[in-house]
Amino acid sequence: MSLRIGDVAPNFKAETSIGDIDFYEFLGDSWGVLFSHPADYTPVCTTELGRTSALKGEFEKRNVKVLALSVDSAESHKGWIKDINETQNTNVDFPIIADEDKKIADLYDMIHPNASETLTVRSLFIISPDKKVKLMLTYPASTGRNFNEVLRVIDSLQLTANYSVATPADWKDGEDVVVANSIKTEDIPARFPKGYKEIKPYLRMTPQPNK
Ligand code: BEZ
Repeated sequence: MSLRIGDVAPNFKAETSIGDIDFYEFLGDSWGVLFSHPADYTPVCTTELGRTSALKGEFEKRNVKVLALSVDSAESHKGWIKDINETQNTNVDFPIIADEDKKIADLYDMIHPNASETLTVRSLFIISPDKKVKLMLTYPASTGRNFNEVLRVIDSLQLTANYSVATPADWKDGEDVVVANSIKTEDIPARFPKGYKEIKPYLRMTPQPNK
């Protein structure tokens, strides 16, 4: 059965471009982003890995470790990384998993046979420090992912893990948030001392509490 939000992200051991890893040991107490690529030496994937590398500081700021995956070999990954660094003006230093036997792709349901029998689609999982799946994205091979959106979701997940709030459509870090429905309106002033605005009884907005 495929993974769902809230499930434990399965552990695995893997050969990668930086050597053998145990997924859980690699993550430690960090958040994780695990994302698959259809194949090495392909144009869209090249831009995605370059962009991820360029955002290294943003992932580090959020205590997030990144791992990519494709069904090609570690040797192939190492050669491809040179091309990525050259063409995207970056330095890919996060691991790319060599999933030649598709064990991890199967574990995470990254092969969608009606798209391709052999290649992974663009799957992306955000995993919390307790190893739970917090977000899943699935894009087709022809569409590169938006890594600003990945960072935005991480900001939302990290905020909502610590405060009884949710983030509205198109929210960005620093903007007002929604008070969780579990909080009674009479309890809001004590819980959210920056104030709140009741637009409807079910729609109460408050300034982002950790800013
Ligand atoms: C790409 O990364 O450009 C790509 C990979 C597989 C199929 C189509 C495009």
